[in-house]
Amino acid sequence: MRVLGLAGSPRRGGNSETLLDRALAGAQEAGAEVEKVVVSRLKMRGCQHCDGCVGTGICVVQDDMQSLYPQLREMNAFVVASPMFFMAITSQLKAVFDRCQCLWVAKYELGQPFVPEGSPKRPGLFMALGGTRFKHLFEPSRVIVKSIFVSLDVAYGPELFYRAIDKNGDISQHPTALDEAYAAGRRLVEG
Ligand SMILES: Cc1cc2nc3c(=O)[nH]c(=O)nc-3n(C[C@H](O)[C@H](O)[C@H](O)COP(=O)(O)O)c2cc1C
Repeated sequence: MRVLGLAGSPRRGGNSETLLDRALAGAQEAGAEVEKVVVSRLKMRGCQHCDGCVGTGICVVQDDMQSLYPQLREMNAFVVASPMFFMAITSQLKAVFDRCQCLWVAKYELGQPFVPEGSPKRPGLFMALGGTRFKHLFEPSRVIVKSIFVSLDVAYGPELFYRAIDKNGDISQHPTALDEAYAAGRRLVEG
């Protein structure tokens, strides 16, 4: 089983990447092969809406997204972790999602789903955090992530959201977050 994790934050080793690492550790401990991609390190452009993928499902923009497409196609489970930047996932992560337009074309226009028709979707986990305690802090991101999960045949399942996590390292002081991320990662594999 291959579990792909996307780290949405540009802050290396920050709060959300720490959470992601715990989830991937749980998945690995349960027997999965795990891959982590730090999206801010990708040299890539946003979707140009050039329609180059129409009819093929293949993106024509030659940049670092080309190495991520096979991982997105072939993963068996998906983990996304992001801090909230102005009430949403980071722009770097959103750019990766937008570049999945070619995969949307493959699935919806060319009839090439990522799991066979009638089979269970690939399990997914969304983890997010922000510095404030705003009530609606995660709502825009939930909608965005649900949208990409549906497009990639990923089931939107557990979500782990943490408020008032701001300074680098705050997540490690949280009483339950790291254990919850680890357990959620394990459950992705063990069901
Ligand atoms: C550009 C920017 C925008 C932010 N916007 C929000 C926000 O809208 N709401 C919030 O609660 N925190 C916001 N924050 C705080 C971060 O979500 C918080 O510091 C988080 O712990 C960073 O996680 P990381 O270490 O994984 O990058 C923002 C931080 C930055 C740098």
